[in-house]
Amino acid sequence: MIKKIPVEELCVGMYVDSIDEKWINTPFLQHQFTVKTSKQVTQIKELGLKYVYIDSDKSHTPDEIYDVVVSHGIEVKIDEPDSQSVPYTQQEIEKYYHDFNLFTHIDRDTLIKGAFVDFSLYLKKDINITILQKYEANDIEITESILSTEGDIVIEKDSRSKYKNYLKDLFITKSLNEPDKFKHISKSIIRENSKILMQELLDDPRCGEKIKECRGSVEEIVDTIEKNGVLIKDLLTINKYDYYTYTHSVNVCVLSIGLALSLGTFTENEIYSLGMGALLHDIGKSSIPIEILNKPSVLNEKEFSIMKQHVLMANKILYGQKLLLKEIYYPVMEHHEKLTGRGYPKGLADNQIHPWGRLVSLIDAYDALTTARPYKKAFSPFEALSVIRQQIDDFDHTFFVNLVTILGSISD
Ligand SMILES: [Fe+2]
Repeated sequence: MIKKIPVEELCVGMYVDSIDEKWINTPFLQHQFTVKTSKQVTQIKELGLKYVYIDSDKSHTPDEIYDVVVSHGIEVKIDEPDSQSVPYTQQEIEKYYHDFNLFTHIDRDTLIKGAFVDFSLYLKKDINITILQKYEANDIEITESILSTEGDIVIEKDSRSKYKNYLKDLFITKSLNEPDKFKHISKSIIRENSKILMQELLDDPRCGEKIKECRGSVEEIVDTIEKNGVLIKDLLTINKYDYYTYTHSVNVCVLSIGLALSLGTFTENEIYSLGMGALLHDIGKSSIPIEILNKPSVLNEKEFSIMKQHVLMANKILYGQKLLLKEIYYPVMEHHEKLTGRGYPKGLADNQIHPWGRLVSLIDAYDALTTARPYKKAFSPFEALSVIRQQIDDFDHTFFVNLVTILGSISD
C-alpha cells in the first residue's frame, strides 16, 4: 500500500515509491528504491521535502533488516546494485523505534538566541537521540552553541505543553518588541503550534481512533494557510489575544475531518474544504475587541451581540481570497446556525444549512463543552454528548450518532 508520510518519519528499510521532486535534482539514480542507509535518509531530508510516498508492502520491518543484515552478514533481500550493508544492529534499531515514540521533533527556527526554555533539548542524529541540554532547576538559555549543533532538535513528548507556552511567549514578546525579527518566525510558530496542538489532541482520550487518521489532511491545510499571508495574519492575531480560540480552531478542524472520514461518503476535496473551513471558522474573532474575547466571565447581552458579529467579520476577511473554495465558507458562515432556526446570523433551518455548516456546528459545541474556560469546568466527553443530546433538535442527528460512535463513550 502506498502511504504518504512526513519526511521526518522516513527510516532505513522503507521502500520509497516516489517523492515530490524532479529526479534530475536528486542524488538518486533510481526512482523507486529501498532506503538502506542513514545517509540516504539524510540526503532525502536535505532535499527540503515535507512528505515522501512509501510502499509499505515492499518496506522492511526492523526485524527483517536485522535478519538480512546481521544474521546473514549480507543484504540479500535489498535489490539496489550499489548496495551497502545497513550499519545498525537489531538492538540499535529497536532502541531507535522505542525512543522515536518518546520524542517530538521541533523546528529549529523557533529557538531564538537569548530566549529561555524550561524543558530539556535533545539531538537526533541518524538513529541516535542524545541529550543536548538538560533542564534542571534553571531555565536553559538558547545559545549559539545550541543553535550550531548538527542534527534535528527534539524534545520529550511530555515537554510539549511547555514548548507550546514557550511559543506563545515568544510570539507575544517578539511581535511587540521586535516586529522585524518576528516576521521571520511567525510562520514557524503557527506551524509548530498547530502541530503540537494536533499531537496533543490525537493523544487525548476524548479523541477516537478514526480521528487519528486525519493528521496528514490537517497538515496539508496548515500548509495552504501558511502560504496565504492574509489568513496567517488573522490566525496569528487570534493566537496572540485569544489562545483559546486558536486552540479550539485546531481542535474543531481535527475533529470535523475525523467525523467526516468516519462517514466514508465524502471525496478528498470535500474533506479538504471542510477542514479548511473548520480551521478558519472563528477567524472573525480577530476583529472582536480583546476585552470581550478575553472576558473571564459569561458575556452580557450587549457584549454577546458584538461577539456574534464574528461570523460576518469572517466573511469580510475571507472575501476575495482566491485561494478559497466556495465550500470553505459554509463552516465559517453557518457554524452558529441551528436546525431549529434559532441560530445566527441568518436563522437558517434544516436543509437550508449546508452539511459542513451542520457538522462544524456540532463539533464546535462539543469542543466548547469539553474545554475548560476561566468561568466553567470542562465536561467529560460523556457529559458533553449528553448535553448536546438534550438539544438534539438543533443538531444533525446522523452526524451526532456518528460522533458518539467514533468517540465510543456513550450508549443509548
Ligand atoms: Fe464561532
